[in-house]
Amino acid sequence: MNYQLLGACLMLLVSPITSANFFSIQPPVEQGEIWGPKQVANVEEVARVFRESLIEATGDAPLMRRDAHPKAHGCVEGSLQINPENLKPEHQVGLFKEQQTYKTITRFSNGDPNHKKDDDKADVRGMATKILGTTYKNLLQEASIEEDQVHDLVFMNSDEFFISNPKQYEKFMNATQGRFGVLPYLLTHWRSLGVILKAREKIANPLDINYRSATPYKIGPNSMKMKFETCKKHVDVMPKNATPNFLSEKLAKSLAAGEECFDFLVQINRDPKKNDIEDSINKWNVKKSPFVKVGRLTLKKQVGFLEDASKDKCEKMTFNPWRAPMANRPLGGLNRVRLEVYLRQFEFRTEYNQK
Ligand code: HEM
Repeated sequence: MNYQLLGACLMLLVSPITSANFFSIQPPVEQGEIWGPKQVANVEEVARVFRESLIEATGDAPLMRRDAHPKAHGCVEGSLQINPENLKPEHQVGLFKEQQTYKTITRFSNGDPNHKKDDDKADVRGMATKILGTTYKNLLQEASIEEDQVHDLVFMNSDEFFISNPKQYEKFMNATQGRFGVLPYLLTHWRSLGVILKAREKIANPLDINYRSATPYKIGPNSMKMKFETCKKHVDVMPKNATPNFLSEKLAKSLAAGEECFDFLVQINRDPKKNDIEDSINKWNVKKSPFVKVGRLTLKKQVGFLEDASKDKCEKMTFNPWRAPMANRPLGGLNRVRLEVYLRQFEFRTEYNQK
């Protein structure tokens, strides 16, 4: 008898997802955001499917991993230097308020829900950075849900997200449970298919590519997207006989040899009519809304992050885009879905893993 799986299923039955929700901490709408009973219903359905998938993916394994981006290449130490001098005064808020240098931890990942998938296959790539000891509080602290004074930047290798809004996300998640998987959804939603195909790339080193917020965030009175642009001048060549986890080996080799960096840029939305914050598939025109450099993330020269104890710490970490100050909070319905789902899923997998 698989008691762990049985326990998880019972938990699902006795604690309907609606019992622990975070709807009360959703901030008031602004800048054209849409949020009401319909979107709340979308979230409930998305959260239900997410939880069911997590239970199914875990099976009888003792460890419940993240359902998105479960495979890490490593959590590495560094520092983020902020310099807001290129921003207008009204945009010098939250993280961008003043010149500052913060310690950071960055987790590089593959996006595929299957953590056993080999690194040499095409995949979406993730980069989540935790900024430690910020001079400001984040929204989860303000809501008394957490105490740590941190700010998380949860990025992926795409300018835009593959789903536009909560309604479409519900449709997509329901499709994952259908007989033919997401194929029928993608074949009838060309923009989504286009974004996914572009984001699924083969890489030879996690330090070779750029990572972006994809969805919009607040910057004072406006919206913005953010980007980490690699400082690496030469892209590595794909190894001939790549091992299943060669990306972590590549990352370790690079950082053992010396420090590496990413420039940190923001793209202020100068065309809010076209760049609708309720349509996350939207790519913002860089000529109309150019990127501005606001700092640099330096990953220090280091060894040891692939040792068991460090890997275990990395697995237990959580990143959430809502660990952000109000002045730089995530914007739009899709990000509001994330406020519910990241917290619920993290709570759920932590409970399972502590048993
Ligand atoms: C409605 C949209 C989205 C939903 C519902 C969603 C859901 C999730 C969930 C549940 C996790 C696991 C969290 C945990 O248990 O710790 C996760 C992780 C992650 N997501 Fe999303 N996600 C969404 C959009 C995005 C977007 C737009 C990005 C990037 C721009 C992104 C990048 C990531 C990354 C990088 C991780 C791994 C974080 C880590 O290293 O721990 N997600 N996502």
